[in-house]
Amino acid sequence: MLEVDSLDAFYGDSHILQGLGFAVAAGARVAVLGRNGAGKTTLIKSLMNAGPRVAGAIRFDGQPLEKTPAFRRSRLGLSLVPEDRRIFPHLTVEENIAAAMKAVGAPGGQDAIERCFARFPMLGPLRKRFGNQLSGGQQQMLAVARGLAAAPKLLLLDEPTEGLAPIIVDQMARALNAFLDDDGAALLLSEQNLRFARKCARHVYVLDSGRFVFQGDWRAFDANPEIKSRYLAV
Ligand SMILES: Nc1ncnc2c1ncn2[C@@H]1O[C@H](COP(=O)(O)OP(=O)(O)OP(=O)(O)O)[C@@H](O)[C@H]1O
Ligand SMILES: [Mg+2]
Repeated sequence: MLEVDSLDAFYGDSHILQGLGFAVAAGARVAVLGRNGAGKTTLIKSLMNAGPRVAGAIRFDGQPLEKTPAFRRSRLGLSLVPEDRRIFPHLTVEENIAAAMKAVGAPGGQDAIERCFARFPMLGPLRKRFGNQLSGGQQQMLAVARGLAAAPKLLLLDEPTEGLAPIIVDQMARALNAFLDDDGAALLLSEQNLRFARKCARHVYVLDSGRFVFQGDWRAFDANPEIKSRYLAV
């Protein structure tokens, strides 16, 4: 579904991503791990055409995306939950979800909104609360719910668990997995939280200085403990 070849990304003169190649099949769940500054956010933004200057090939459902602006990528079925969340401060929780659905023409109306609240029970009591009245953790939960409400084919999640308590991390993993199981959507997750990544992804890439230094399943990851000590801050 998503195929990436020789992807380079630049901020001005800084060459950040160095010839990345990978693919995410329909329904696959992939984690990109790497320490601060490894290039995780740059990768996710490059896929969405949301910041860095990009060279190389990105195809989605066989279609080249090079010239496709971010809003059109959303309509093709890519949904980005950015590192900085971007919750609308003057809309309620429910309106934030509705707005995300409307922006991409997602089907389902009120039923789909109720499904979101059913999957993310911690958001139910907050549904009439404004975005700027939510805690950081509540905003993160809403951002993930909103990303899924767009009914994507591929959800791009950039470090959704940063700063969350372990019990909330587990709630988020449950809600996310239930949604992905139901919809058959694929996941590309950038993370430093191994516990969450293990719960949600089946295939792992490790990024370091803009290059992949490992790819495999969790069994291969665990069989190479030096990957963890060398490239991840754990
Ligand atoms: N807007 C920007 N302009 C210039 N350089 C940038 C910009 N954003 C990121 N960089 C640089 O690109 C490199 C990769 O950053 P990136 O944000 O992709 O890392 P990351 O893996 O997401 O890190 P973190 O875990 O801290 O979020 C870093 O060296 C960073 O300083
Ligand atoms: Mg980042």
